[in-house]
Amino acid sequence: MTSFILTSFLALTGFTQLSSSTLTYPRQNNGSGSVATKCGPNTANIICIDRYGSVLPPSFSRDSDPSVGYTGTVVPDDPSWSLVAAADFVVFDQERGLELLGGAPKITKVFDVLNVIHEGPVYVPSENKLYVQQDGPPGNVSQLVIDLNVDPPTMSTFQTSPPTYQPNGGVYHDGKIYWTVMGNNVSLPGGVKQRPGIAVMDPATRKVETLLNNYYGFMFSGPNDLAIDTNGDIWFTDSDYAFGLFLDDVPKQTQLATYRFRPSTGQVTVVEDTLDHPNGIAFSPDGKTLYITDSGLESVGTNATEGQGNFYNYPIAINFISTDKRNIYAYDVVGGDNPYLINKRVIWQALEGAPDGLKVAENGYLVVAAGLAPGCDILDANGTPLARIQTKHAVENIAWTGENLTTLWLVGISGMTKVDFALKGPALD
Ligand SMILES: *[C@@H]1O[C@H](CO)[C@@H](O)[C@H](O)[C@H]1NC(C)=O
Ligand SMILES: *[C@@H]1O[C@H](CO)[C@@H](O)[C@H](O)[C@H]1NC(C)=O
Ligand SMILES: *[C@@H]1O[C@H](CO)[C@@H](O)[C@H](O)[C@H]1NC(C)=O
Ligand SMILES: *[C@@H]1O[C@H](CO)[C@@H](O)[C@H](O)[C@H]1NC(C)=O
Ligand SMILES: *[C@@H]1O[C@H](CO)[C@@H](O)[C@H](O)[C@H]1NC(C)=O
Repeated sequence: MTSFILTSFLALTGFTQLSSSTLTYPRQNNGSGSVATKCGPNTANIICIDRYGSVLPPSFSRDSDPSVGYTGTVVPDDPSWSLVAAADFVVFDQERGLELLGGAPKITKVFDVLNVIHEGPVYVPSENKLYVQQDGPPGNVSQLVIDLNVDPPTMSTFQTSPPTYQPNGGVYHDGKIYWTVMGNNVSLPGGVKQRPGIAVMDPATRKVETLLNNYYGFMFSGPNDLAIDTNGDIWFTDSDYAFGLFLDDVPKQTQLATYRFRPSTGQVTVVEDTLDHPNGIAFSPDGKTLYITDSGLESVGTNATEGQGNFYNYPIAINFISTDKRNIYAYDVVGGDNPYLINKRVIWQALEGAPDGLKVAENGYLVVAAGLAPGCDILDANGTPLARIQTKHAVENIAWTGENLTTLWLVGISGMTKVDFALKGPALD
């Protein structure tokens, strides 16, 4: 009993297990120093943040509007903070952050595009082309393709056969592009009819086959993004953004959830039902961990108030509730041939926007698009932020390209940017 009380007392006072040496921190930032300093190679504007910026001079403030980025933090009493707004890369972990940037990191805005969300970038290595989607305008059945065989790259539009209405997420698998398709419209040009679901396109022929378009007769609300496991099962998130974007005129019929679809049998199973807006989804390299982003704090719809920036060329309303979820969750994947998820844990609350597309690098680091904010965060597998990429436009999703998969394309609202660095994308199968 005595020893139990003593242990609890020590735990409460923070002394258990800590030797005096672990209590000595590398630097005590009392808020009077310079939180930001220039660092790394000079091929880009790289800024290192001291101790994650954990102590700022107390005059700091930040608007809670999630579309105000990290750089929108106001720190009047630390002149070094002004370096952050101008940075291409912000480094939180000097060792691993600078290592992933490599010897000559470079950021280039490549294309100005329509003032709508761009999504679902998929690299097809055999063609050296990047396929990209756009959310809207309503009724538009065009896809974009970027030819990386020429310098500078060129972009063109095409339509699949039959036309596909508003794919949002995409992955490359077995020579083909698998899409989550969120458009819901049975009066498309040319008599084309489509319900939301999963489709697969052969890039060589651009022919599309629908693999899934309902849940026992209910319509999906807007399949958003997907990941394919080693058995070939397709795990996908279902959100209702298409309705608010006027790309689907059927209000949601079922809960928003994450599903596992088995193309070999046609069976679809709900695997996760606790997130507000399930969005990006990706497996760890060993397939044992699944990551899902929850962009719950943002919603689109006719009754929402318009967000900052008037993102669209057509009337659209975006509502932010800064106290709602903006998190990444990790789960253990167990169960062998009938896999399911256990041990849900939150590993990251986005530092701006709401986490959207999520991809896992070859080494297991997570690269997370900031959604309606202008950047992308790079985290280790535990959710520790290592570095971030800062763009001039909002970023919804990302894809690695190139012979060595060391170019990362960031696609978003009105722009496409590429980053050349040392962080490699996962091998394409
Ligand atoms: C904060 O630390 C700096 C050195 O790192 C020191 O010069 C300064 O006096 C300290 N300020 C306060 C309020 O302790
Ligand atoms: C559809 O999208 C494509 C690709 O961005 C664009 O070129 C075209 O002008 C759009 N069409 C309409 C009618 O908005
Ligand atoms: C459906 O497509 C038509 C074009 O044929 C377009 O006018 C309409 O806005 C679209 N509606 C939705 C909900 O996608
Ligand atoms: C918008 O608000 C009105 C009045 O409160 C309500 O009747 C309607 O269902 C709402 N529409 C949506 C799309 O939420
Ligand atoms: C890929 O890596 C190899 C080996 O480091 C290098 O020789 C080659 O130039 C790289 N290719 C590109 C396109 O950067």
